[in-house]
Amino acid sequence: MIQLRYPHLFQLKNYGAVRSRFESESAKLPRFLELIRSRGQGFYDLPDATGSVAEILEYARKVRGKFDHIVVLGIGGSALGITCLLTALKHPFWNILPKRARKHPQLFVLDNIDPSVIAQLEDVISYKKTLFIVATKSGTTPETMSQYHYFRAKMEREAGKIMAKKHFVFVTDAAAGVLREIAVKDGIPCFTIPDNVGGRFSVLSPVGLLPAALLGIDIKKLLSGARAGRDVFFEKKCVRNIPFQLAAIQYVLEQERDVTMTVMMPYASALYSLADWYRQLLAESIGKSETRGGKKVLIGLTPIKALGVTDQHSQIQLYTEGPRDKFVLFLEVAELYKKRLVIPSTKGVTFQELMSVEKRATEQALFEYGRPTATLSVDRIDAETLGALFMLLEGSIAFLGEFYDIDAYNQPGVELGKMYTKKMLLK
Ligand code: PA5
Repeated sequence: MIQLRYPHLFQLKNYGAVRSRFESESAKLPRFLELIRSRGQGFYDLPDATGSVAEILEYARKVRGKFDHIVVLGIGGSALGITCLLTALKHPFWNILPKRARKHPQLFVLDNIDPSVIAQLEDVISYKKTLFIVATKSGTTPETMSQYHYFRAKMEREAGKIMAKKHFVFVTDAAAGVLREIAVKDGIPCFTIPDNVGGRFSVLSPVGLLPAALLGIDIKKLLSGARAGRDVFFEKKCVRNIPFQLAAIQYVLEQERDVTMTVMMPYASALYSLADWYRQLLAESIGKSETRGGKKVLIGLTPIKALGVTDQHSQIQLYTEGPRDKFVLFLEVAELYKKRLVIPSTKGVTFQELMSVEKRATEQALFEYGRPTATLSVDRIDAETLGALFMLLEGSIAFLGEFYDIDAYNQPGVELGKMYTKKMLLK
């Protein structure tokens, strides 16, 4: 079960106005749901795409045992989701776990074009045992396409022109983009990202599902969790709608208290990459310069990621005593590990208990300093929970878009940078 709790929030000193604003904003929920449904976005339909799940599982079955390494070439929404799935659902030291314990390939996500990383990846993979997944919604992103051309040329030298094609699989738009053209011309298997699903909302499409299935992650469970999350997202009652409550808290804190930053702080190392994924989602979706009606505004909530307990010793000092511009969203997991790890020389205290005490202590300290916090808690980290978390957090972004009356699904600022990159390269 997933819960959002914020017992301290309205008890903060001088937070009466925040509470009444939160209550009055709650009335917008049914209207916002209608608006969200009218936007033509497809992220909440992804859990129903059984056809593409069957295709992915069939492909995974066909290549099973053929590759020791999977390399994902992708950036932004095409990379952060699978990184999150790997970190959350697989062994923390996955790539160095012996092959017999892994039973599935290693995974490398190359989301940068730093030549030192590209070149040195070659020290740890064998081309003949590598499958490259090239993931790009637009099929034209320069970073991903340049990586693709580099590795395709290398693979052709290693395995020969004909065999090289067997080491690639694409995930891209149904029709648009250069990558789709290459797939058609060269007969490379290609999975489709639905047209109405944007990059940062695509984790539950083949972008996340294909590499996840190749790692042995139960993608059916991921999607059933997402369906459960969607039921909550579509709840018309505020008390049951976690995404709406989260968005309303962020919006009201910004409007009433100039709290413009959201710190996502999981008390679980496995969820650290979820904070990374959420960082893109919040930043790119809500950072906008005009409303849907074209009114000039400068909207944005700055996402920050922190890790409990690690960052208690690096960032918490700032959050307790620094500017009053941050809202801390803790993520808490009731069962972090199936075995009890008792700390010797204590009266049977486990690491899980210590972690939980430290989280509550940090929350209390922030409260005493008058800082707003909330906790998103889950029973355990598994495929179903993660699917639900993706959907709940995407839903909260959709609600934020309605609160601010901005288009949460475009990214003109990113596109402008991409356009200039292409232009400057051509020169
Ligand atoms: O959310 C988005 O649309 C972007 O951040 C993209 O994920 C990112 O720019 C990569 O684009 P593409 O998947 O087209 O290569």
